[in-house]
Parts: sequence; C-alpha cells; structure tokens
Amino acid sequence: MTSDGSGPVKGDAGFHTPVGSRRTFFNWATAGIAGLIGAGLAVPLLGYIIAPALKRRERAWVDVGGVGDVPVGEPKQLDYAMTIQDGYLETRSQKAVWAVKQADGQVTVFAPKCTHLGCGYRWAGEEKQFKCPCHGSVFGIDGQVLAGPAPRPLDRLPVKIENGRLMVVFEEFKSGSSTSEAL
Ligand code: FES
Repeated sequence: MTSDGSGPVKGDAGFHTPVGSRRTFFNWATAGIAGLIGAGLAVPLLGYIIAPALKRRERAWVDVGGVGDVPVGEPKQLDYAMTIQDGYLETRSQKAVWAVKQADGQVTVFAPKCTHLGCGYRWAGEEKQFKCPCHGSVFGIDGQVLAGPAPRPLDRLPVKIENGRLMVVFEEFKSGSSTSEAL
C-alpha cells in the first residue's frame, strides 16, 4: 500500500490490488443498505403521521333525539352535541337541526341555516312557515322557498330511524348558491 493508504499495493502474487476502489464500494454499499433500512422505517411512520391529517371530516351518523319527541306536522328544533374529527383536531360542538314528522311516520331533517347567507331561521307556528330574521326569507314546512332572497329550498340532511332514535349525518352547506353543495 502507498503511504496515504489509498493507492494500489503489490500482493503476494505480484498483482496490484485496487484497495481504494474496494473501500469506496463498501462505503457505497453500507450507505445504500442504511438508506434502504431508513426508507423501510420512514414509509410506515410517515403514513402514521400523515393519515389523520388527510382524513378530513368523517361523515358519521349522530343520534339527535327520540323520534317520539317530534310531533306530527309541527317542526321541532333538536339540539345535540357532536364530536368533530378534523385531521388531528377533535372538537365537541353544539348543533341543531329541524325535524318534521309526517303522519305516516316519515321524518325530514333540515340543516339549521338559511340558504341565503346562513342565518339561523325559526318556525313561526301561527303562520306554519319557517322564517329567517336576517333578510326575510320564508320557507314552507317542506322547505320550499315561499318568499325572500333565499336561492334554494332548505338543505336536507340524510336521516334514518334506529330503535326509535333519529339518526342524522350533519353537514354544512354553502350559502347563496342555487344548488345544495356541502362544504
Ligand atoms: S340569511 Fe336568511 S334571508 Fe338572508
């Protein structure tokens, strides 16, 4: 070997062996193997970290009350608390929906915001209409627009009845457009 350890040496058989090239090869091989092991560990770890962030608000059925508590033909506001999972964040929030039960037991559930600009509306029992206090939109018991600037009927939520409980999937909708688009 030369004095700096990188040059060729003369072996027993008199051949010159490329010691520097062999060392370089082992260095690269070691780095390659370490890289593969690192990648093998990093991929599942990244998946574990990123997956919750990618998993945006999950749609889930929420119990909003007993179906027997909703009188036939008289809309009722149902208040309930729900947990919202948004990426890593889990928040508990108060929600409300409007439920309308028909004589045959079918129930329609409306999202609680006016379709004009998103104000909360109320049921005016004497007039049998939903009324929005902000700009005067009026909706029938079936959610259809009767008056005012609302561009579409009230938004309906998916609903089902399970063991006497009213289950809904809560969604929020874009206000101001003529079609119902979930946010
Ligand atoms: S927000 Fe209801 S009428 Fe404007």
